[in-house]
Amino acid sequence: MTMKEPKNGKEYICLAIESSCDETSAAVVVNGRKVLSNVISSQIDIHKAYGGVVPEIASRHHLNNINPVIDSALEDAGIGFADVDFIGVTNRPGLIGALLIGTATAKAMAYALDVPLIGVHHIRGHICANYIADTELEPPFAALIVSGGHSTLADVKGYTDYEIVGQTRDDAAGEAFDKVARVLGLGYPGGPLLDRLAKEGNPEAIAFKRVYLEKDSYDFSFSGTKTGVLNYLNGKKQRKEEFVPADVAAGFQAAVVEVLVNKSIRLAKERGRDKLVLAGGVAANSCLREALGKACAENGIKLYMPPLILCTDNAAMIGAAAYYEFISREAEDMTMDAYASAAL
Ligand code: KG4
Ligand code: ZN
Repeated sequence: MTMKEPKNGKEYICLAIESSCDETSAAVVVNGRKVLSNVISSQIDIHKAYGGVVPEIASRHHLNNINPVIDSALEDAGIGFADVDFIGVTNRPGLIGALLIGTATAKAMAYALDVPLIGVHHIRGHICANYIADTELEPPFAALIVSGGHSTLADVKGYTDYEIVGQTRDDAAGEAFDKVARVLGLGYPGGPLLDRLAKEGNPEAIAFKRVYLEKDSYDFSFSGTKTGVLNYLNGKKQRKEEFVPADVAAGFQAAVVEVLVNKSIRLAKERGRDKLVLAGGVAANSCLREALGKACAENGIKLYMPPLILCTDNAAMIGAAAYYEFISREAEDMTMDAYASAAL
């Protein structure tokens, strides 16, 4: 990889922007590792009323929020526009209208400031959150990325060299958490609420289906497990029987976490990776963190988990990913587009 030399021995300051779903975020990140600011404006309270993210409403709020969020990020970092060396922005994948607000803003700023522009893959951003959390971490490593839109296993061979080895064939892990939480009447977003309820339940009281697919597969499928929960609840309701919601939450969570952990460990071992990186919103799940911690310890694998604020969507992680793209390739030009779906 052809690395750019730091200009005058100085560090590269990235203004990073994230708007792929329901968080408007801007951050100032130095050399991909040091976060000077990370401002996150969440729309969760707005979308709560609808039980999920409404794309058109998300776009409108991004449009209202993006300039003040960027101003706050610069102010918190104690810098001005003139100090920005390059702009990093999530341009794929995500809600297309939401992505367009971030990318159009980034393009306008890059043009006005005459600085390079780097388009970042959102999932690369989630992985790179770990470079901020642990400034010593270097590839190669195995990575499990679990969010509201993705469940992905990747072999990260270099800072910009990723191989996807497994993906979900139906629901993403976070999506399954959110749907089960909804039928349990927990509210939105359901993942954290289900996590909390599960702490009061017995994970072995109800055995929900663990779906491993073909023997060698690294893919995931959570819709069967989710349907198992729905059938269990419908059966109980039809027969007018009592059930323990905390046991349902704990049983479902245990089924999902077991598959995530086993496949992640198998990937690390088969690829000879002694490091495993956890990323994405579901990385905040306490059961997953604990189970992965235990399994990694048993298998001599070092586990990296970002703090919760870097797990869910934020622009600092985009600034980390953008830096490694910036020093290894050409920047984007003004024809850069946004994409609803894109390979890692
Ligand atoms: O990465 P993220 O902020 O947005 C996407 O890129 O999708 O992930 C959001 C997802 C939601 O589905 C949310 O319910 C889930 O992460 N989540 C959790 C927990 N905290 C967030 N799921 C399970 N347990 C948690 N503690
Ligand atoms: Zn995300």
